[in-house]
Order: sequence, then C-alpha cells, then structure tokens
Amino acid sequence: MSDTERSDDRETTGVDRDPTAVVESVFDVVADAAPEIRRALPGRRVESGADNPSGETVMAADVYADDLLADRIASVEGVGEFASEERESPADVGDGLAVAIDPLDGSSNLRSNNAMGTVVGVYDAPLPASGRDLVGAGYVLYGPITTMIVATEDGVREEVVETDSDAETTGVTRTVVEKSIELPDDPTVYGFGGRVPDWPPAFESYAREIESELKLRYGGAMVGDVNQVLTYGGVFAYPALEDAPNGKLRLQFEANPIAYIIEQAGGAASDGVQDILDVPPEKVHQRVPLHVGSTSLIDRLEDALA
Ligand code: AHG
Ligand code: MN
Ligand code: MN
Ligand code: MN
Repeated sequence: MSDTERSDDRETTGVDRDPTAVVESVFDVVADAAPEIRRALPGRRVESGADNPSGETVMAADVYADDLLADRIASVEGVGEFASEERESPADVGDGLAVAIDPLDGSSNLRSNNAMGTVVGVYDAPLPASGRDLVGAGYVLYGPITTMIVATEDGVREEVVETDSDAETTGVTRTVVEKSIELPDDPTVYGFGGRVPDWPPAFESYAREIESELKLRYGGAMVGDVNQVLTYGGVFAYPALEDAPNGKLRLQFEANPIAYIIEQAGGAASDGVQDILDVPPEKVHQRVPLHVGSTSLIDRLEDALA
C-alpha cells in the first residue's frame, strides 16, 4: 500500500493527525511524567506483591509509573491502543496509533540505586505489531541526569529533562542536547546479559572475541546499557540462553523500540538470525534474543551464530 493510499486510509479511520505529530505528543507526555516518576522512586522500592504477565516480580515503582503513563498516554489525541509490560492485554483507548511501553525498565536496579528507564514504542498497527510498523520510539533514562531519546523517521535526538526549579511554575524544561545522534564509527563498549554458563557456545565464543577488543559496560538495566552503546558505539545483548532460547527481553516494548532507535542512529539490531524489526509479532509479551549496536559487530554476531 503506497503512502498516499495509507494516508487516505487513515482519514477514513477518523484519525487525521500526522503520525509524527502523535509521536511528539506521546513524548511530550512521557517527558512531563519523567520528573514525577523520578520523585516517586525513593518511596516505592518495595515489591508490590504481584507478578506481571512475564511472571516477574512487580515493584511498587513499576505500578506507579505504569498507572501514571497509562492515563496520560491514553489521553493523547491520535492514540487508539495502549499496552504495557505490566498489563495482560492491550487496552482499546479510541482511534489511532498503538503505544507499547515498558514503564520502568531495570526496576531491579531500584534497590541498588542504579540507572533505570522508561521505554516507548509507537506503532501504526494493532498490537502485537511488527517493528516495521513503528513510526517512533524512545526512552527516558533516569541516570545522574534525566535524559530522553526520541527517534522518528527524521532521526534520533537527545533531550535533557529538568523540573523547573522556580517555585511559581511546576513546568518541565526540555533542552535538546544532541539533534541527530549517529553511532560512532569506532565501537568502544559492550554489555551482555544472562550468566556465562547459560550462554550457548556460539554466543560465548563471540563474547570472548568482543571482550578482548572492547570495554565492559553492563549496568543491568537495558536502557542504561543501550545508552552506553548509543553514546560510545559497541554492542549490547541479552542473548538466547540454554534454558531460555527466546532470551529475556520482550519484543513489543523493549526489543522493537530499541532496535528502531539504534537503526535510526545508523546501527543494527538482530535476534541472532534476522533484523529484530522483521521478527513476526505473535504475542504482546513474547520474548526475543536482542543484540544491538554497531553494524560491524552485529554482522559478526550473525556470522558467529550461523
Ligand atoms: P524490566 O525491569 O523492565 O523487567 O527489565 C529488566 C531487563 C532489562 O532491563 C535488563 O537488560 C535485564 O532485565 C537484566 O536482566 P538480568 O537481571 O537477568 O541481568
Ligand atoms: Mn519487569
Ligand atoms: Mn525492561
Ligand atoms: Mn519494566
């Protein structure tokens, strides 16, 4: 279907907002929520007592971030569907694009006070959707500084997100610090998840090669580890494991958005065999092995696993 046909089709669905405008509105909401989520973290370092659809322990902070973002994203004009790591199935919220979020990525880092993030994918298709249907993706990184990465068809930018300290206003100020991010030509860092004894032999031998060439940067939260690769070039992977052939990370709200960002920044993303964005969507919480970073390193990975 050509683009013009598609836009005609969009008018018939009653959604006449340009997809990039909807993406920007979604990230306006995510940026505004970031300081509130950050302020809520210290008091929500406890387990909520519930598990999520992936069978993981849910922290009180996961619940807070999910509830805050669900309401606000659902109210964006042009958003029609909402899905989250913490919710069983997507919610129909009207007419328009589908948004899948990881409200708090790396929440196990809360107790050890290390980086965490919020991941967002905006799809022009019902969920579960192919990464090829992404029209935008991004993440907030709750690091020493709160930053937000936003990727659209126009490229990848980085913003610093601050709470306006002036008592009279409660605004959030956003400053674009990188207008168009490209992965550096020479890769520098790597970070691999899972336990070495659980890595399949082919991945382990690839890892040994990479370890002899690059510097280890692994913080245990995908967003922080991917931001290292986006900044310095290199490779992040949460690979297939002997007892978990689909790895740990979820396609809809972790792997696809990260793959979109890294590819828009000139890198590559693979499940070990194919581009992440081509992985057929089956379930909202389906897991996929994720390897992202400098194209040369991802090419070597696919050769190693072939
Ligand atoms: P989440 O906190 O959203 O469930 O994601 C956690 C993920 C990801 O952030 C990270 O790369 C990975 O879990 C780390 O897993 P291990 O603890 O097994 O290293
Ligand atoms: Mn989780
Ligand atoms: Mn996550
Ligand atoms: Mn999460």
